[in-house]
Amino acid sequence: MPTNVETKRTLGEVPDLLITDLDQWFSVMDAVTCRNNAGGPLMQTANKIVAKVIGAGKEYKAGDTVITALQASSVDLRSGELTLIIGPSGSGKTTLLSLLGCVIYPSFGEVWIDGIKVNELNEKNLAQIRLKKIGFVFQKFNLIAPLTALENVMMPLILQGVNENEAKTKAIAALEKVGMGDRMRNLSNDLSGGQQQRVAIARALVTDPEMMLCDEPTASLDIKSVAIVMNELKLLAKQGKAVAVVTHDTRLTPFADRIIYVIDGGISDKPIDEEIAQK
Ligand SMILES: Nc1ncnc2c1ncn2[C@@H]1O[C@H](COP(=O)(O)OP(=O)(O)O)[C@@H](O)[C@H]1O
Ligand SMILES: [Mg+2]
Repeated sequence: MPTNVETKRTLGEVPDLLITDLDQWFSVMDAVTCRNNAGGPLMQTANKIVAKVIGAGKEYKAGDTVITALQASSVDLRSGELTLIIGPSGSGKTTLLSLLGCVIYPSFGEVWIDGIKVNELNEKNLAQIRLKKIGFVFQKFNLIAPLTALENVMMPLILQGVNENEAKTKAIAALEKVGMGDRMRNLSNDLSGGQQQRVAIARALVTDPEMMLCDEPTASLDIKSVAIVMNELKLLAKQGKAVAVVTHDTRLTPFADRIIYVIDGGISDKPIDEEIAQK
C-alpha cells in the first residue's frame, strides 16, 4: 500500500537544503507534492462554508471624523482551501481577518461562523466561538511574556478545560510540528521574531480548529522558514481546514487556492491593475 508522504511530513522533516530563494522552494515542494499525488490522494473534504461576511464593514470614530477601515464586504471561507488576503499596508486586511475571526464586531452587515450569526452574540459567547472554532495568528504574535513557549501553546487547551497532562502532550506535538521542539522551555521574550511567529502558529493549531486565520504569518521569517510555514498551512487546508492568510507579499500567491485582494478598504477578486486594464 503506498504511503502518503505529505500527510506524514512535519515542518521539522522538510529537507534541509541550501535554499536561497522562494522559487527554489516552490520547485522542491512541487516535486514533493507530485510524488505524493502518485502515492495516493490527500484527505478530501467537501468545501463547506465555515465563515461568511455579508456586506460587513468596520468604522471607527475619532472625534467628529469617521474612519472606514473596511467598506461593506462579502467574503466566505471554505474548508479545504487556503485563501490569501492580499493588499497594501493600511488597506483593511487585518480588519477583514478580525471580522472573520470574531475579534471585532462589524459596524454594519453580518458575520456568520458555521451557521451562527455572531453579530448578536455577547462578548462571552463570542469568546467561546473563538476558542472552539478559530485559530488566530496575530500580526504581533500576542504571546504571553511571562510564560514559556510550551505554556503559551497549552493555554487555549487549558481554557477549553483540557487537563494539564493532555494539554502538555498536545502542545509539545504542535511545537514539534513547527520545528520548535527544542525551544519550548524558553520564555517567549527570549525567542527571536521568527521563533515567536512559529509558537503563535502552534498555539493557533493546537486546538485543531476548523479555521486558521493568520495575519502576516511570514513577516518575521527568513526565506526558508516562509516556505516551511506556508507549506504547513497549505497541508492543513488540504486536510480540511479553512485557512486564510493575510499578506502584502505577492510571492505567497503560488500557495493560494483562492486570492482576495483588499484595496483602499474594499475587496476585489482581481488585482487593481487588472481591473484598470479591463476598463
Ligand atoms: N482601531 C482602529 N481605530 C482607528 N482606525 C483603525 C483601527 N484599526 C484600523 N484602523 C484603520 O483602518 C485602516 C485599515 O487598517 P488595517 O485593517 O489594520 O489595514 P492592513 O491590515 O491592511 O494594514 C487603516 O487606515 C487603519 O489606520
Ligand atoms: Mg494588518
